[in-house]
Amino acid sequence: MSRSEPILKVENITKSFGTAHILKGVDLELPKGGIKILIGPSGGGKSTLLQCLNCLVTPDSGTIWFNGSVVDIQKSKELYAFRQQVGMIFQDFNLFDHLTALDNIIIALCKVKKKNKQQAKERAMVELEQVGLSDKGHLYPAELSGGQKQRVAIARALAMDPKVLLLDEPTSALDPELVGEVVAVIRSLAQKGMTMIMATHQISLIRNLADEILFMKDGLIAEQGTPRELLGAGVCTLSQGFCDKLNEITGEEI
Ligand SMILES: Nc1ncnc2c1ncn2[C@@H]1O[C@H](COP(=O)(O)OP(=O)(O)OP(=O)(O)O)[C@@H](O)[C@H]1O
Ligand SMILES: [Mg+2]
Repeated sequence: MSRSEPILKVENITKSFGTAHILKGVDLELPKGGIKILIGPSGGGKSTLLQCLNCLVTPDSGTIWFNGSVVDIQKSKELYAFRQQVGMIFQDFNLFDHLTALDNIIIALCKVKKKNKQQAKERAMVELEQVGLSDKGHLYPAELSGGQKQRVAIARALAMDPKVLLLDEPTSALDPELVGEVVAVIRSLAQKGMTMIMATHQISLIRNLADEILFMKDGLIAEQGTPRELLGAGVCTLSQGFCDKLNEITGEEI
C-alpha cells in the first residue's frame, strides 16, 4: 500500500431501517494516521455510519476497502478478520460490569486474540498503563469514574491491535470535569499515529484534532473540509453554524 492510499475506504454506503433511509450513499476515505471528525445534527446518521464502517451494522449496499482490498462481508472469516482491525469505542463504554477492568481486557485478548491467560494479563497491564490506569486494574466498572471506564474501554480496544479506531461520542456521557482525561488519551493516540474517525460534540477536538471535518446531515456528508476551511474566521458554513450552537450550549470556546 502506498502512503497516500487510504487504509479504510467506503463507497456508496446505504442503510435503511424499515422504510427509513438512514444512509443515502456515503463515500469516505481514511488515510493512514488521519483523523476525521463527524459532526452534524442528531439523527443525521453518524452512529449508523460508524457502525457500518466495521460492519457492526451491515450496510444494505456499498463497498468497503481495507488496505487496498475489497472486504467481502458475505465471507464470515474475512469479515471477522476485518473487524479485528477496526476497533470501536462507544459513548457508554460497553464494559462487562461483572468483570474487573483488567479482566475486561483479558477476556477480549483470550477470546479474540486466542492468548493464554498469562500473555493476556501481561498485555492488558501494558494497555492499562498506556491510559494511565495501571493501579486500577482490580476495580469493577461500578468502582470507576466515567472517565476511567472510558479509558478502560480504549485500553481494551487497543489490546486488539486495531489499525483504525472508530469513536462514537467518547466523551458525551462524561461529567465535564472528566472529559479532559479521555481527550488527553485520544490526543496521545493521535500523536502515535492511530487512524481515527470520531463523532463528537467536543469543540476542542473538532477544531484542534481533526485533519478533516465531515458534516453529516440526512444520511449524507453535506460538507467536508479542514477545520480552517470550515471553521476559519469569517466563513459561513454548516459546520460553523453547528459549532456556534454547540458553543452556546456548552460554553466551550470555539
Ligand atoms: N437499529 C435501528 N433501528 C431503527 N432505526 C434506527 C436504528 N439505529 C438508528 N436508527 C435511526 O437512524 C437515524 C440515525 O441515527 P444515528 O444514531 O445514526 O444518528 P446520529 O447522527 O448518530 O445521531 P446523534 O447525534 O443523536 O447520536 C435515527 O433516526 C435513528 O432513529
Ligand atoms: Mg450518534
